[in-house]
Amino acid sequence: MSKPVSKSAESKKEVIKRIEYLESTLSKANIDYYIKDSPKLLDSDYDEMYRELKSLNNKNPELFSKESVLFRVGSETKQSDLKEITHLFPMLSLDNSMDEQEVLDFHNRTSKNTEKENQYVIENKFDGLAISLRYENGKLAIAATRGNGKTGENITNNAKVIKNIPQKISIKDTLEIRGEVVIRKKDFEALNRNRINENLNTFANPRNAAAGSVRQLDSKVTASRPLSFYAYTLVSKNKLFTKQSEIRDFLIKSKFDVSQDYLLTNDINKIIKFYRAQEVNRDKIDYEIDGLVLKVDSLDTQVELGNRTKSPRWAVALKFKPSEAITTVNDITLQIGRTGAITPVAELEPVLLSGVTVSRATLHNKDEIERKDIRINDHVIVRRQGDVIPAVTSVLSDKRSGEQKKFEFPTQCPECSNNLEKIDAVTYCINDLCPAKITQTLEHFVSKHAFNIEGLGSKLIDKLFSANLISTYSDILKLSKDELMKLERMGDKLCENILAEIKKSRKITFARFIYALGIRHVGLRSAEIITSELHSIENIHKASIENLEEIKDIGPKVAESIKGFFVKNIEEIKELESLCDIQVEKKLSNKLEDKTFVITGSFNGVSREELKKTISAQGGKVSSSVSKKTSYLVLGDDPGSKYEKAKKLGVVIISKEELMQLI
Ligand code: IVH
Repeated sequence: MSKPVSKSAESKKEVIKRIEYLESTLSKANIDYYIKDSPKLLDSDYDEMYRELKSLNNKNPELFSKESVLFRVGSETKQSDLKEITHLFPMLSLDNSMDEQEVLDFHNRTSKNTEKENQYVIENKFDGLAISLRYENGKLAIAATRGNGKTGENITNNAKVIKNIPQKISIKDTLEIRGEVVIRKKDFEALNRNRINENLNTFANPRNAAAGSVRQLDSKVTASRPLSFYAYTLVSKNKLFTKQSEIRDFLIKSKFDVSQDYLLTNDINKIIKFYRAQEVNRDKIDYEIDGLVLKVDSLDTQVELGNRTKSPRWAVALKFKPSEAITTVNDITLQIGRTGAITPVAELEPVLLSGVTVSRATLHNKDEIERKDIRINDHVIVRRQGDVIPAVTSVLSDKRSGEQKKFEFPTQCPECSNNLEKIDAVTYCINDLCPAKITQTLEHFVSKHAFNIEGLGSKLIDKLFSANLISTYSDILKLSKDELMKLERMGDKLCENILAEIKKSRKITFARFIYALGIRHVGLRSAEIITSELHSIENIHKASIENLEEIKDIGPKVAESIKGFFVKNIEEIKELESLCDIQVEKKLSNKLEDKTFVITGSFNGVSREELKKTISAQGGKVSSSVSKKTSYLVLGDDPGSKYEKAKKLGVVIISKEELMQLI
């Protein structure tokens, strides 16, 4: 007969089982993440399990071996053929703090252990792949991934093709510059769009795309991907700097990109305020961040505080709410765009993503559904990235219950029953009379950057169209009170407001007018370029495809599309022209060509909008944020943070008067 098991032995057994489970789940997740670049576990779940394992380790250290996930950095498993490099100093990981209390705890700990008030630096935590660049004699000599923290993979040839990595620096000592390789959000969207067009697998997120691109054997593949490097620190055997903030200044001076959002302070309340603000601001940043990193500024104090096995005691990651979640696909529906392109959409069980409830996600196109094998009732990972529509990034096929249904992509348009046509990866309804296409087109016409008719939203457009009151753009501009009043629940006041908005909208810039036409491939920017060269509808109508292509930045696709549209719709365009008061903005000169301006502050008596127009009229570009590419910052009274950024980046700063002199 077996001995009765004591209660504590039983609970010990439970603990061992739990540790084994967490160790194996986290190990597998590390391989999926670091080696296969295909995460199957949410970052937030990983963090939670990791913290649980750590707390079990604190209570039962005897149950842990040196091999535990807790004491490894990244993944120890190597599968690549890239050679191994030993880092000058280990590349550590960071402890996470998930809320404000934990930030305060970190601050209290460091203050207590150093017995003084510390200065901190705080900046964005890049969500990419950590790499280390070794410079010898002022030249980039070796580049390596983080790997297991002590040794990483040799990616020197690949780092040499990342455009914003300086090949030379002014210090001759051997040192390593560390940072993160990312793909900026805009570049990522374009990359995945191209991959969809070429029928290739899309990347789950910018981080995986960056990681996969850096760990290539063939640097031509790396070179073809839009990678950017952001530096955050420097390590060396000789003492070259005394502060983290000095390192940052050196990195900027050496032309490395760094986190533009940054604070140097000893005020923990300011840090917490910054944490809150950045979480809201996160969507507006060019690249993905998953939090902030808070570091003690003094390098001596960093040494004094020291490191744990895996992470430093002088730094902590301040994590944001996750932008990924697991949910189920309740249905797949189709959305018809104004070009007739049909986009399948996943109707999701609503889920919270970085503070926003998401219930729909794009599935891009038919091939993408098949490639990812997304089925109705599947569990999926959805991801929100900035202002872009959320996307389904992977399917958790292990969770299938047998109730999943494959989606049959229809062969006929769900709106007009016309046969659908597949051109490359996109399926189109090619019926010009398809009601869905027409209403989408009309909605584009009244939208903010087009005629900007407030009060005329998609619901009203649908109603007016169904009531046969509108089917063309000019019908909208010609709407009468009698017609509008025919709609159910249309009151006098609302009707008057809409009519007033329509009247106001007739005075419109030529660029907006062209954009409003909804010509395929012609966005606001192309419309601006075309109208600044060709100053009338007549000129555009007369222009041949070749003439259009001669305009700088107008490619053959856009040129062909414009020509085709004008030939087909010239009657309607002329009718519209007769109803509008079109403001032609001529480009006066090319004096500011290739120059990018950022405007900050206020200017006595002149609005920023006017300044923008002045710059554009001379061929200059106006951007909303300062970067290394900014040629001039136009400085007014009470400037914002752009001024600080411009100073840091060494951008030329000019007054309004100096701008006028340039012209
Ligand atoms: S400082 C660990 N600054 O986050 C030593 N790290 O999760 C101090 N990371 O491996 C690192 N952005 O690669 C620092 N602005 C930043 C960062 C940053 C991203 C990475 C780093 C580290 C990982 C830890």
